[in-house]
Amino acid sequence: MQGAQRRSESWVRHSREVARGARQAERLAVDRETAVRGFLLTGNALTLAPELAARRALPELLDSLGEMTRDDAGQQRRLAAIRGAIARWDREFAEPALARGAASSPPSTPSTPSQADVRARLAGKPLFDEVRAAFDAFVRAEDAVYATQVRRNSVLRLASGAAILLELMALVLVLVWLRNRVAAQTAGLVAKQQQLEEQAVELEVQTEELREANHTLEQQAVEMELQTTELTAANASLTESQDRYRRLVDSAPYGMLVHRDGQIVFANAAAAHILGFEQADDLLRRDVYGLVHPDDRGQVRDRVRQNLDTGAATPLAELRMLRPDGTTVEVETVGIPLMHDGAPAVQVVLRDASGRKRLEAQFRQAQKMEAVGQLAGGVAHDFNNLLTVIISYSGMLLTELPASDPVRADVQEIRRAAERASALTRQLLAFSRQQLLEPQVLDVNVVVRDLQRMLHRVLREDVRLVTVLAARLGRVYADAGQLEQVIVNLAVNARDAMPTGGTLTVETADVDLDGEYALTHAGVTPGHYVMLAVSDTGVGMDAATQARIFEPFFTTKPLGHGTGLGLATVYGIVKQSGGHVWVYSEPGVGTTFKVYLPRVSAPLTRPRSGPYPAVARGSGTILLVEDDETVRRAARRILEQAGYQVLEARDGAEALRVAGTNGTGAVRVDLVITDVVMPAMSGPEFVAALREARPDVPVIFMSGYTDDAVLRQKLVEPGVAFVQKPFTPEGLARKVGDALSGAPPQVEP
Ligand SMILES: Nc1ncnc2c1ncn2[C@@H]1O[C@H](COP(=O)(O)OP(=O)(O)OP(=O)(O)O)[C@@H](O)[C@H]1O
Ligand SMILES: [Mg+2]
Repeated sequence: MQGAQRRSESWVRHSREVARGARQAERLAVDRETAVRGFLLTGNALTLAPELAARRALPELLDSLGEMTRDDAGQQRRLAAIRGAIARWDREFAEPALARGAASSPPSTPSTPSQADVRARLAGKPLFDEVRAAFDAFVRAEDAVYATQVRRNSVLRLASGAAILLELMALVLVLVWLRNRVAAQTAGLVAKQQQLEEQAVELEVQTEELREANHTLEQQAVEMELQTTELTAANASLTESQDRYRRLVDSAPYGMLVHRDGQIVFANAAAAHILGFEQADDLLRRDVYGLVHPDDRGQVRDRVRQNLDTGAATPLAELRMLRPDGTTVEVETVGIPLMHDGAPAVQVVLRDASGRKRLEAQFRQAQKMEAVGQLAGGVAHDFNNLLTVIISYSGMLLTELPASDPVRADVQEIRRAAERASALTRQLLAFSRQQLLEPQVLDVNVVVRDLQRMLHRVLREDVRLVTVLAARLGRVYADAGQLEQVIVNLAVNARDAMPTGGTLTVETADVDLDGEYALTHAGVTPGHYVMLAVSDTGVGMDAATQARIFEPFFTTKPLGHGTGLGLATVYGIVKQSGGHVWVYSEPGVGTTFKVYLPRVSAPLTRPRSGPYPAVARGSGTILLVEDDETVRRAARRILEQAGYQVLEARDGAEALRVAGTNGTGAVRVDLVITDVVMPAMSGPEFVAALREARPDVPVIFMSGYTDDAVLRQKLVEPGVAFVQKPFTPEGLARKVGDALSGAPPQVEP
């Protein structure tokens, strides 16, 4: 009886130990679960320290529980259930959670849990509930064992004493009550804790959501700021580009305006300038058609209609526009349809065409002059040879005929007519720039001063001559006689333009013509020039007359009063000298002719000294080379009459033969007179060949014509003499005398 009771008491103790062990094991499991959740919550690896300890201790404790309940098959099964539940929790919750934590954050660095972590924490709960349930089942079974043992114990004690029994029963009751109370309290606490945890999780989820919303908001704010910056930049560049385009339009050399329903709504400065307004604003709100010449308005209306109907630009057109001062301006325009303030409008681009038209007219005029010049020059050349023959023979006839001969007067008429014709031909040659010039470095002031007395004779008494000569004037390279011709022709025209008297002004000045001048004056090369201006206060000319004055044979004078060759000659001489001539004239006010000759830096050529020596008879042998037989014969007659022996040759080769330079024995030749332009060998070529054998023989070139500028250049070298065809017997004889006496070559009178 005593032994059985002792055994039973030992069972009761054993059962309590098992229950305690189970509770301890459950706490370890709870520790693990708390640690893992804490880790998921905070990401802090330090929170895992209790988990590691519990994970190590738990199996040992479960093993010793297994040992203690070795004889209890029921408890062994429940223990297996506990192990199974823990293993499942480990596999499905703890291990993945720890693995994710280790991957997402470095150890011991707290981090913000992700939403996935939060969801994982929630998923772990049912698994751990199973662990708890398994433990509960184990403890409940052990409690049952305990209760059985207690009951058996009490039966045994019944026998040992009612007091002890009562005591025990009271104790049991107290214990049961206590246990129930503790259990109830524990259950309440656990429920509370679970509820709190759930709320915490929920709060975390909400916090997370809030954080995410905040993050999104922050991102949106940054994005908005970016957009604002971009907008500000775009706005600035738009303003800048608007500014740039406005400046472009404002400073454009083309006029631009926009009109809507015929009313100007925009204009730039160039448009105002072209149309004769002070500033662009003066054009605003004006009727665009009112600015167009009445004759062109219909055309403009058609073009605008075309713009608006087709939506396409109209091609370039020339129009006349009216300026506020009543003058007309010719413009080139293009119309482009566009929208202006939401309404269809037309943009007009315009360019002042008057400058271009003026230049075109100048070019056309220059071309015409060139063509007419060639024609005139060609005729004059052949004509010249004929006149040389007529003048030569009539001259010789006159010297041969006695003074009383009745035929003499007729011959004199022939000669006078031929001389007039010769003067005309010279003018034509001058115009065609095919005259042989004898340029030298000149002071234009000297030429004007020398000419002054002659001008007074040419002008009438009612015309006052004023000379305004520059104190310092550059030099020019020109033929003095031809320059005199220019001044005389201009002066005579001025006189004729002032039938009731007036003032003729001759002015000189150094002038630099710049690029801009060259742009508006066809054919002008920018550079330094000497200007010679001849002005009058006469009747002036209208534009139509001005356009034609330089043409040969253009005259407004009555028949027999003008040949129309004066200005043609001026034009030819000036052009041949590398210069330019322009006219400025206004009807009823007067006219100015401006001649520009290129300035040169070479020193002045020695001035002409004294009058020409009188024609004298001479002696010696002259080699005469001329391809035109009639001219050759005439020249021979003149020379023989003057006392010279003449050797004739038709061309250079024959001349070289005659001169004996080809080894057939030298013939004495005192002077060579040769034509310039000849077939096969030119005069200069022949002279060059001749000079190899006879370096010292004097040479006179004879020509009325050459179109070879290089040839001309060679001829006018200092020391080269020439005689212009047609020549007079006196002129030729004088030249020959000069050449033979070694006098320097002189300008022909
Ligand atoms: N200073 C001037 N004022 C007004 N008109 C002028 C002046 N100079 C020339 N003209 C006009 O130019 C025309 C041509 O002049 P140009 O000297 O070539 O011939 P012309 O004087 O008529 O005849 P020519 O000079 O051959 O005797 C003149 O008929 C005249 O109408
Ligand atoms: Mg004239």
